[in-house]
Amino acid sequence: MQKKWWNDKVAYQIYPKSFCDTNGDGIGDLRGVISKLDYLKELGIDIVWLSPIYQSPFVDQGYDISDYYKIAEEFGTMEEFDELLAEAKKRDMYIVMDLVVNHCSDKHEWFQKALEDPDGEYADYFYFVKGKDGKAPSNARGYFGGSAWEPVPGTDKYYLHMFAKEQPDLNWENPTVRQKIYEMVNWWLDKGLAGFRIDAIINIKKDLAFPSFEPDGPDGLVSGVKMIESAQGIGEFLEELKQETFEKYDAFTVGEVFNMKEEELAEFVGDDGHFSTMFDFSAHELTFGEHGWYDAKPIEFNSWKDIIFTSQKKMENVGFLANIIENHDEPRGASRYLQEHAQNDKGKKMLATTSVLLRGIPFLFQGQEIGMTNCKREHISEYNDINTIDQYQVALEAGLSEEEALKCCYENSRDNARTPMQWSDGDNAGFTTGTPWLAVNANYKQINVAEQENREDSVLNYYRELIALRKKEEYKDTFTYGEFVPAYETEKDLFAYMRVDKESGQKILIAANFGKEPCTITLEDGVKQVLLSNLAKEEMVSGEAVKNHKITLESCESVVILL
Ligand code: NOJ
Repeated sequence: MQKKWWNDKVAYQIYPKSFCDTNGDGIGDLRGVISKLDYLKELGIDIVWLSPIYQSPFVDQGYDISDYYKIAEEFGTMEEFDELLAEAKKRDMYIVMDLVVNHCSDKHEWFQKALEDPDGEYADYFYFVKGKDGKAPSNARGYFGGSAWEPVPGTDKYYLHMFAKEQPDLNWENPTVRQKIYEMVNWWLDKGLAGFRIDAIINIKKDLAFPSFEPDGPDGLVSGVKMIESAQGIGEFLEELKQETFEKYDAFTVGEVFNMKEEELAEFVGDDGHFSTMFDFSAHELTFGEHGWYDAKPIEFNSWKDIIFTSQKKMENVGFLANIIENHDEPRGASRYLQEHAQNDKGKKMLATTSVLLRGIPFLFQGQEIGMTNCKREHISEYNDINTIDQYQVALEAGLSEEEALKCCYENSRDNARTPMQWSDGDNAGFTTGTPWLAVNANYKQINVAEQENREDSVLNYYRELIALRKKEEYKDTFTYGEFVPAYETEKDLFAYMRVDKESGQKILIAANFGKEPCTITLEDGVKQVLLSNLAKEEMVSGEAVKNHKITLESCESVVILL
């Protein structure tokens, strides 16, 4: 595999609306991001990915862009953005933006012009398709519920929207659209952006026959994914996109890719792949219910471990995945992957250890580093997310009570990750002096940066230590390029693997006991040094805990050992 500049980097996702508000309007802003760069640097972050900051009506929180060349005024100005780039550069950090080009906002000039003249040039920027027998062209359901087709007023046509009706899909078959997208991407890269996280990208290739399929729900519709799966040839679009833009700048790109055809793995993220990397969503996908959140499956330890191990192994000799435990579309990892007995600082540090030292690019999501958790709400009106509101309805229609439907939201809602960053135990968690756009999680008095900053054994300080270890000169190559080798696979509730550098022979064991009972393992190789212990027990750190080649990990204990 070819080595690339981003291979050894650690990334952090900022959800700008909820990160840090400096002007008291209750919405995070770019000044807030700038003010926290030193905090991120100290944490060990190299790459900062900003969820969309473009001009937007915010129907889907900025994933509906009405002008790709403007910064949303809620977030600040282009001058502030330039300042952010410059400040990041001073600190050897890289800024990555969100690239949302499967769709735009219905308020985008292109769509407005298309509506004005549904037979004109701009209509062809979108999928304006004639209905069948007075109905939509197909029975595809959008990701946020309801038909994926919306009538074009005054015509017998419908336009396609895989997400909300305010997010019309752009027609990638139209070469002019593609050129305009490339121009825009290059305009941002020319500014000094390091790359992009690429939104919903698998959706850009449609099956132009727009077939209907067997309905999968009482609404007579079928998941739009079916149509995407039947489309062929996305690779041509993705290659062109790469060659016309990213490649020229040696940019870093991370794809949001669901439903990829397995045999296309190397084409997507191999040496000459369409993207630098893509997120490993396999653990998230494990929870997918057949019909929605109301039949979502809880995480079961063995399946969770197996699926991560499978992802790791399939990437060997191919490339890197981007490893996450949460993001702005998922509940908090500490609430989802840790069982009740482990939902504490020990457990959070243990989860951090197993995730950050995997092979691939670690992506932290804001608040993960202090162990933020899911947020309880009393009523559906307290949620803002469009997806949550839809899923709540779906649950009610399936016969769940309001209380049960609310529980589904507590477990799955995207708003769990979107509550304001908890900076302190002051008003509104120190996020804003105004009224936050989304209420803070009530646990901010206990979980916040200020409290953890100076407490030696805090989750935050552990993340700092963990990332520093990953980057330490002596171990960097092993953690970056070393092979991933599963260890002690039959040991109940143990998540253990080795990172092995074939060239130097260096071997590092990562072992974490997710169970309730202690777990003893035999170390075949001699222990050179215990590099990290989440409980910081004296006998563990000194290596005295290793007796007769055996080591016992108590519940929620993790260790990193140089063998
Ligand atoms: C994926 C984004 O992460 C999500 O937040 C958004 O709703 C959809 N794509 C649509 O852009």
